[in-house]
Amino acid sequence: ASRTALPRDLEGLRVVVSAGGTREPLDPVRFLGNRSSGKQGYALARVAAQRGAEVTLVAGHGNELPAPAGTDVRHVSTALEMRDAVHEAAAAADVVIMAAAVADFRPATRVEYKIKKTDDQPDPAITLERNPDILAELVENRKIGQTIVGFAAETGDEHAGVLDHARAKLKRKGCDLLVVNAVGDGRAFEVEENQGWLLSADGAERPIPLGSKSHLAATVWDAVAEFIKR
Ligand code: CTP
Ligand code: CA
Repeated sequence: ASRTALPRDLEGLRVVVSAGGTREPLDPVRFLGNRSSGKQGYALARVAAQRGAEVTLVAGHGNELPAPAGTDVRHVSTALEMRDAVHEAAAAADVVIMAAAVADFRPATRVEYKIKKTDDQPDPAITLERNPDILAELVENRKIGQTIVGFAAETGDEHAGVLDHARAKLKRKGCDLLVVNAVGDGRAFEVEENQGWLLSADGAERPIPLGSKSHLAATVWDAVAEFIKR
């Protein structure tokens, strides 16, 4: 832990942070998941608590991380569970940060028994169904004065760069701040370092230099504190 005294600039704020990945069950023993470690969301929760906020951490799956000191951790598994827990905590929150890797789709049916392979049946296909967009729902039901922050991991493609995709996503989501991670080349997933941009709904854009997830967390909270003051 750092010995440097942190500012208590988030004192009096109630914040919700989601972290980790969701798991979407196929049958009692199998699921669709993703590679989220949960580290970024945990760092955001830890730094917020250190700076005086009252923190609820809605934690999906990832590395088995210890609960950050001074936070209220609610463990969830599926996107639908995460949605319920986030909305419940968000009802009384000043700030909500969606750092979780929420599955966009879930298997349309959850089989009650372990799926078997048989030689007299064709191999099964998985049909997917869309999960709700929790961030979009938060924006839609926003409390007065509530600040909502999204995360996006983007790669460039043949049509547009990382920033073009991120600007479009900020508009589409309607959140106040979007933290953009440039991914690819082993960045962001399963590594200690992040690199990206912080986009604000008012058009402000600042780069976030390569640094630790704790450093990125501090940068995000600085931006949130600044955003709330205006
Ligand atoms: N998110 C969410 N609920 C979902 C999917 C995403 O709340 N069902 C949130 C994430 O936690 C993140 C933000 O939305 O804060 C952006 O997620 P991302 O996957 O980048 O955006 P999508 O709208 O799902 O777009 P894409 O098709 O690029 O995955
Ligand atoms: Ca997605």
